[in-house]
Amino acid sequence: MARQAIVVALPRDEQVAVIRELTEAGFEALAVTAPEELEAILNARREVGVAILDGESDFDRSLEYYSLLHDSDRDVPALMVVSPRALDRLAGAAPKANINDEFFTRPYSTDSLRWRIEAMLIRSVTIDDGSGPVLQSGGDFESDSWSKRATIVSIFNPKGGVGKTTTALNLAAALQVRMGLKVMLIDADTVTGHIATSLGLESVTTVVDAWTEDLEEGRSERSLIDIATQHQNGLTVCVLTSSPLNTEILVPERVGDAIRAARRGFDFIIVDMHPSYSPLNQEIFERSDRILVPVTPDVPALRAAVQMRDVAQELGVRDKLALVVNRANSGVSVADMERTVGMSALALIRSGGLLFVRAANEGRSVVEQYPKEKVTEDFEILAQKLVGEEFQAADKSAATKPAFRIFNRTKEAARA
Ligand SMILES: Nc1ncnc2c1ncn2[C@@H]1O[C@H](COP(=O)(O)OP(=O)(O)OP(=O)(O)O)[C@@H](O)[C@H]1O
Ligand SMILES: [Mg+2]
Repeated sequence: MARQAIVVALPRDEQVAVIRELTEAGFEALAVTAPEELEAILNARREVGVAILDGESDFDRSLEYYSLLHDSDRDVPALMVVSPRALDRLAGAAPKANINDEFFTRPYSTDSLRWRIEAMLIRSVTIDDGSGPVLQSGGDFESDSWSKRATIVSIFNPKGGVGKTTTALNLAAALQVRMGLKVMLIDADTVTGHIATSLGLESVTTVVDAWTEDLEEGRSERSLIDIATQHQNGLTVCVLTSSPLNTEILVPERVGDAIRAARRGFDFIIVDMHPSYSPLNQEIFERSDRILVPVTPDVPALRAAVQMRDVAQELGVRDKLALVVNRANSGVSVADMERTVGMSALALIRSGGLLFVRAANEGRSVVEQYPKEKVTEDFEILAQKLVGEEFQAADKSAATKPAFRIFNRTKEAARA
């Protein structure tokens, strides 16, 4: 069955490639070359999910399309495809009619455009949580990010060295770099965290640095977005601390609130954790939508995953768990592992040999540095599964209680 209809009004060559990609993804992609055609589509059928417009070469025509999309009782989100230069010009433009409208910069891969569309569709059915209008633009391009609410995915296994950090980093990169989503990567490993160094980021300001300074100067605590560092690959990286000492300022509830507050502005927040059941970690479990448990195919790692399952049961977060089988090369029976641990596997990550070490030497993830490697594909599949899950959950909850549920979160969670 075809999914929602997507209108595509782009220059000819681009249009063909985009329509092919969207059709393969199961959408009904409709080519439009004139405003009359769009009008006819909108009049005939109301189920258009997103319209992809060209915000550059024929701007006047795009404005006509745009006004049709937001005519009278209609409110179809638009994705404007522009060059980075045009985006700068548009940054000061008037507020958008629809908070779900977005920009997308050329050059792009049709694959990343497709995932941007998926994310927009998720938001368009999830944005109305009954908490009133979402903050509107003040002419600042960044403000379009206010319409987003991230899914929080934490990565945890009480055993060390099973691939938590590797998974966090490469999953975040797959979502951000390959799928064009907006991702905050949080290093919440307060003891041996090394995300910043793996990504070649020198002397980042940590949350401990910033909050200590704020306290000393009598200011209110800065948000994670204000503290975070931008990586050249687009990821927003936030490190809780660079030292295991003097972390008292990281009061679990405060950190939890700060993570939750950062949801506005991102599609995903990925949290790398320290292998312990500290109060901070329990708070992060509580605030997460999903807890991924990387596990290598060896007895200690499997035992640790079983322990995690039992602890999660006690903490009331059991439903959030999913296994990620790491170093899952041939010979491993995933079904056996699932049975032993009592959790289903969301994805398998094969061994990448020395690629991880080499990529870290360049300050990059394997996903960016080695885009053609099989292990990169594994992370992409994991990323796609997470986005797909959110889509299904959003679809389902929209069908039942449209105004009061976001994904699988409660209204209370959505208010944060
Ligand atoms: N699929 C893989 N292929 C090859 N090397 C891997 C793979 N997964 C992890 N590694 C390597 O194994 C080591 C441990 O991985 P990682 O640091 O991600 O584990 P961790 O669970 O975060 O450990 P800790 O509990 O100490 O934080 C690293 O050197 C990493 O590069
Ligand atoms: Mg780690």
